[in-house]
Amino acid sequence: MKKYITTPIYYVNDVPHIGHAYTTIIADTLARFRRLQGFDTFFMTGTDEHGQKIEQAAKQRNKTPQEYADEISSKFKALWDDFDISYDYFIRTTDENHKKTVQNAFMKMYEKGDIYKGEYEGFYCVSCETFFTQTQLLDDNCCPDCGRKTSVVKEESYFFKLSKYEDELLKWYETSDTSVLPKGKKNEVISFVKGGLKDLSITRTSFDWGVKLPDDLNDAKHVMYVWLDALVNYLTTLGYTLGDEKMAYWDDTTHLVGKDILRFHAIYWPAFLLSLDLPLPKCVAAHGWWTKDGEKMSKSKGNVINPKEVADVYGLENFRYFLLREVPFGQDGDYSKKALIERINSELGNGLGNLLNRIIGMSGKYSEYKIDKNNTAKFYQSELDEAKEYIKSAISSLENIMPNRYLEEIWKIVALANGVIAKYEPWTMMKNNKADEANALVSLCANLLAKIAVLLSPAMPKTCDKIANALSFEISNEMYVKILLNDELLDFVAKPTQPLFPRVEDEPQKDQEMPKQEIKQSKDDIITIDDFAKIIIKVGEVLECERVEGSDKLLKFKIDLGEDKPRQILSGIAKFYNPSDLIGKQVCVLSNLKERTMMKKYVSQGMILSAEDGSLTLLGTHAKVKNGSIVG
Ligand code: MSP
Repeated sequence: MKKYITTPIYYVNDVPHIGHAYTTIIADTLARFRRLQGFDTFFMTGTDEHGQKIEQAAKQRNKTPQEYADEISSKFKALWDDFDISYDYFIRTTDENHKKTVQNAFMKMYEKGDIYKGEYEGFYCVSCETFFTQTQLLDDNCCPDCGRKTSVVKEESYFFKLSKYEDELLKWYETSDTSVLPKGKKNEVISFVKGGLKDLSITRTSFDWGVKLPDDLNDAKHVMYVWLDALVNYLTTLGYTLGDEKMAYWDDTTHLVGKDILRFHAIYWPAFLLSLDLPLPKCVAAHGWWTKDGEKMSKSKGNVINPKEVADVYGLENFRYFLLREVPFGQDGDYSKKALIERINSELGNGLGNLLNRIIGMSGKYSEYKIDKNNTAKFYQSELDEAKEYIKSAISSLENIMPNRYLEEIWKIVALANGVIAKYEPWTMMKNNKADEANALVSLCANLLAKIAVLLSPAMPKTCDKIANALSFEISNEMYVKILLNDELLDFVAKPTQPLFPRVEDEPQKDQEMPKQEIKQSKDDIITIDDFAKIIIKVGEVLECERVEGSDKLLKFKIDLGEDKPRQILSGIAKFYNPSDLIGKQVCVLSNLKERTMMKKYVSQGMILSAEDGSLTLLGTHAKVKNGSIVG
């Protein structure tokens, strides 16, 4: 089965910002998900390059519209390539095949009797490229959508008989559950149509940066209205009227758009399609807008978020996660660095990253990294059943374009897996000679994590590949069917890995420079073997690790040094490590250092050793050893 997924094509009057990234990332996630499910999926994006707005923007910069469009279009393409957006086709409306397709479509609608010539008299907002009547405007003839001043237009124009399609459109909204999503937005569209549709002016004569009318009409002073030109891009991409080679994808089309352009996609576009005798899209899904500190982003306010800058500092996939998770699809959301950091450190680091570390740590300790599925269902069937419900719900949420719900459901599985470790305490089971149960618990967690990784891979592809690699399996459609649809369990061989989500500080610096300890060795520093014998360094395992309230440097550890009781040690390494990433790791500890009290209340019973080279790395051993082993 084929699926077609589209983003809007972006105006080239300005460089890409967070809003563009949001639409594109949702569409990319959906396209990757459909491929994972085994659908033959075609995903397109591109740039919208004609119209008065672009002509004016180019003029202000002393460029031709084409030069300017070339420059900005390449920025969009470069950003999507940098962001690893999995598009199959990047369209530009200045492409020759597109111009031809728009002319062919225009001619078809004309021949059908849906286009007639008349005169347009009304108001036009260049910024929104939209016509308005006086009654729709705000005070002082300002645009009801963007608030800018509109201009009065009186010119010869061709019109499209939009009013003719009112009933058919209403029938479409009524009969198709998915025609417009979310439902609330659909109701807005329905009431707009019920308010009565006026025929739409679809050509302009007062400027010429646009697609000319078909030669057959012999009317050179008109160019196409930019929205007609732009919407037809979805057909050009599939080869419509120029070979139709990919038109089979059209039957199952999902258009992702922002709420501001829903009217064009849910009213004008289906009306054009009805006129062209083409099937209507399966779904037009409209998301809300991102604001900054509650305000609309705009260049004049200087509060526009550059997606590349955020991704560079916080990580592309962390940013993807944040955008998809932070706001319910369809609602507006406010961008805040604090919320982004919180999600990275808690849901990603403490939740998902921690789960992987614990599985690696436990499997290393209990079964030499081999994870055997055999007893999993015997001991933990109810947990497997619980996860199954979350999986079903995550899949249907994404199928119904609710990316935030999809992630919430996945995180219920993350919580379930972390929760069973806390609940059943496998380390206690091991002590009580219940190794079978402890190993089955590790297998339960590893299998849950594998399901999470497959399910989450459309949103965070590279991260999930790392998880799959750490558990030695591969993410594919076969794996999706096997472990998500058919509930099969897997055996794994775990591999120690770098932390997935290093903790992010409020103001991360790209290279956290540590003042280097310049230690010059002189003759006086030489010690004898007896001096060295005074130092007792032991290998110990981190049982617990947490940040110390009131300090941005200190971590507080419980370390098993093979003694009766674990030691409490404080170490100034919080800038370099995420506490949860260290649990289960073996470290080297100077064990006969005199105890000292830090921050007036914490006794520290030793020192954890590390190497410094501008950054900081804890010392460990090359293979697992018994806790308490002496380093010498
Ligand atoms: N060129 C038209 C679309 C033609 S599609 C046939 C267009 N381009 S746009 O560049 O202005 O906007 C493209 C998309 O970016 C829209 O979906 C819009 O909703 C989205 N966003 C622009 N600013 C936004 C935010 N601040 N927040 C979220 N998305 C917003 O419209």
